[in-house]
Parts: sequence; C-alpha cells; structure tokens
Amino acid sequence: MPHYANSPDAIKALIRPREIHRDAYVSDEIFDLEMKHLFHNTWVYVGHASQLPDKGDYLGAEVGRQPLIIVRHSDDEIHAFYNRCPHKGVRVTTEECGNAGRFFRCPYHALSFRTNGQLMAVPLKKGYEGTKLEDNIAHRGLFPVAQLKVYREFIFVKLNPGGESFEEFFGDSLSTIDNMVDRSPAGKLVAEGAPLRFMHNCNWKMLVENQTDTCHPMVAHEASVGTAVDIWNKEGDGGKHPGVEMLAPFMSPYEFFEGIGIRVWPNGHGHTGVSGSIHADYSEIPGYFEKMTESYGEERAKAILDEVRHNTVYFPNIMVKGPIQNIRVFKPVAANRTLVESWTFRMVDAPDQLFARTLIYNRFINASTSIVGHDDHEMYERAQIGLTCNGLEWVNMQRLYEEDETYDQEAVVNGTSERQMRNQFNAWQRYMTMSMEDESAVGAEA
Ligand code: FES
Ligand SMILES: [Fe+2]
Repeated sequence: MPHYANSPDAIKALIRPREIHRDAYVSDEIFDLEMKHLFHNTWVYVGHASQLPDKGDYLGAEVGRQPLIIVRHSDDEIHAFYNRCPHKGVRVTTEECGNAGRFFRCPYHALSFRTNGQLMAVPLKKGYEGTKLEDNIAHRGLFPVAQLKVYREFIFVKLNPGGESFEEFFGDSLSTIDNMVDRSPAGKLVAEGAPLRFMHNCNWKMLVENQTDTCHPMVAHEASVGTAVDIWNKEGDGGKHPGVEMLAPFMSPYEFFEGIGIRVWPNGHGHTGVSGSIHADYSEIPGYFEKMTESYGEERAKAILDEVRHNTVYFPNIMVKGPIQNIRVFKPVAANRTLVESWTFRMVDAPDQLFARTLIYNRFINASTSIVGHDDHEMYERAQIGLTCNGLEWVNMQRLYEEDETYDQEAVVNGTSERQMRNQFNAWQRYMTMSMEDESAVGAEA
C-alpha cells in the first residue's frame, strides 16, 4: 500500500526540527516521489556549455526519471528537449554526448528534427494528407523542457513551468559559481575530460549532507589521510608536496572547522568555509596572480582569490568547489544507489599548473581509486544498512540547533553546525509536496 503518495502531511511528518525519519533515506516509495516531485520542482544542473563547443553538439541528461537532450543549435543557442520522438515515443539518442549535425533523425521511422526541435521532414508524407497531422503532437517536433537557464555557462533546467525563477531559486548562492568563473583571468571555464564516476551504495542525500559535515574528516579520514601525512612528515623532504598539501587540511582539528563557519541561503543552498577553508593554503603558482591582476586590477584580483569557500551545496544535488575548480554531481539511481560524477574545469588563460592541481585533487579525493572517497563511502554504506534496524527510526540532526531557526533567510553560523543539513530538509519537504495537491502539474506541460 502506498503510504506517502498524495499525502503531503505524511511526507512533512518525516522532518522534525532535530531529526529525520529513516524513510527519507531507505523507502523506495519516497525515492519514486523524489524523482516525480522534487526533481520536477527544482532547478537541476545538466551540464556545462563548454561540453557543447560546436553547433549540433548534444548531451544526454536525466532529471528525475525523464530522459532529456541538451543541444546547441546553429544560432549557438542551447535548447533542452525531452528525449522522446513525438511519433511513437522512441528515445531519439542514447549516447551521453555526440554531434547531431543539422538534425536528429529518429531511428524507427526517420522523422527528423532540427536542433531547435522543429519537425524537419516526414518520410512518405503523402500518407498523412488529409489526416490533420498538423493538429497532432507528432507535428510539433521535439518537446521542449519548460525552463532552461545557462548561467555563466552552467546549464540548469526545471521541468515545472511554474514556481521560482532561476534567480529566485538560487539567489545569492550564485556568488560561488561567480567566484569559480572569476578565478579564470579570462572569466571562462572549460569542462575538461570525462568525469570520474564512482557508484555509491547509499541514498543520494547522504552525499549531499556530507558536503557540510565538518565533524567527520578528522575521524573518518584518520586512517588514510592521517597515515599519509604522518609518513610524509617522517619520510618527506620537509617541502610541500602538491598531494600532501591537499590532504593535510583534512586532519585539521574541530576548532579549525568551527572557525571557518557555514553560510546558509534560502531554498536549501549553503556552503562551508565563510572565512578560510581547507583550500586556503595551497602554494602559489608562478604567474597566476600577475595574470589575474592584468585582467581585474590588483584589488579585485585579491578579493576574488581571497574567497576560498570550501563546499557549496546547490540544492538538490550538486556541490561546487570554487577554489579548486571541481564540481560533484550526485545522481540518484535508487533509494540505496547513487552515481557520483566528479568534474574538473580548466581556467582559460591561467597557468597549466592550476589545472594539474585540479586533476590531482580530483584523483586524490574523489576517484573510486582515491584513499579519501572510500572512507566516506564506507560510512554511507554502513548507514544505509544500519538504518534498517527496527525500532530505531530517526536520524539525529540537531548539532547547534537553535529554537528560533528559520530557513528562508541567509545566515552565517558555527562551522560545525548541522544547520545546512536541516536547511536542505526544509527545502526537501517543500519541493516534494508543492505539486502533490495538483497532480496535473507534474508532467510534460505544453
Ligand atoms: S517513432 Fe520516431 S519516427 Fe516513428
Ligand atoms: Fe569525507
């Protein structure tokens, strides 16, 4: 028997001020409702414009369970369509990326569509004479996704035609993307190479919560990072190794993380590292500051580089690391499975050494072969199993909870607070339930 479908009250009851019911992580029904509602009502990241450098380039994407095509048309405009032939429903492309040339051709009966979605040609068209094809959905071409926004080349879509605009949804949190882009002397990033992919045996929200969980690094990563740093201190030559200077800050004490702060924004977004972060003390790369000064002037260049935010969560499912040009996308597969894609960006006009650092970071921390990522994965996997224990149904989330806490405003709090996790769940229950009363609001609107 479905318990949560069409029952906003049952979903809201999963979220208490200081704790979350385990069903938010383990229930298949909740997962299905997330796919249908949460990912319908929020702005979701689908790719970067630099992945579509040429006309006709396209990406496959999935939002909720909806297959999409993101494509660059001949006038350079980017479009997003449902990946569904308007004739009999066949998925038009299956590749993760490719170039369509001037048009997509459905592999079943060869209806073809321009890269702006328009129906271009119908084979043996005379068979439709007098049948009023022009009144049928098949005549409309590829069906556009309701809302699309390309923000500084980051591409987001929203399936729901209503609700908050892109700017209203993200608000001041966009300052993290701004900072990441501004760190390029040319103000331009290029997504370089394929992402590192790491399948996790856990619910996708555990990964999102972990991005602002500052009380675990010195514990969960002690055996790996702590050992690596110990060995370096004993055996190293006393200088800085690029890998070690990335790993060592993970072992910082609680007081460090308390001091760097967490900023929360409305609608579930937030970041660690308001004043200082684990990315603050990397070695200088020769020539970079000079390049930045040429582009922005010394004062502005300094301001850009002094902003060293740690992890920024863009609700619902990406994390952006501005200072190291790395983003992670948490792709829900099932209630207990999440595919993590870790992307690296090259900053145009910056010294190559910076991109080398980005690549090293991604491999050291995020790869399925890294020593750090496995520590976290082990914890998520254990939690996914532990949460099945009967009679123990609530997950604690009350560190530094304040009685008058509200989530519709910006706030800066202690860096070990779980306020950002609570902020995410406050947004979660809202976007899960907002279209439940109106079932017709969920689907491919005209
Ligand atoms: S299903 Fe696409 S052309 Fe027939
Ligand atoms: Fe971690």
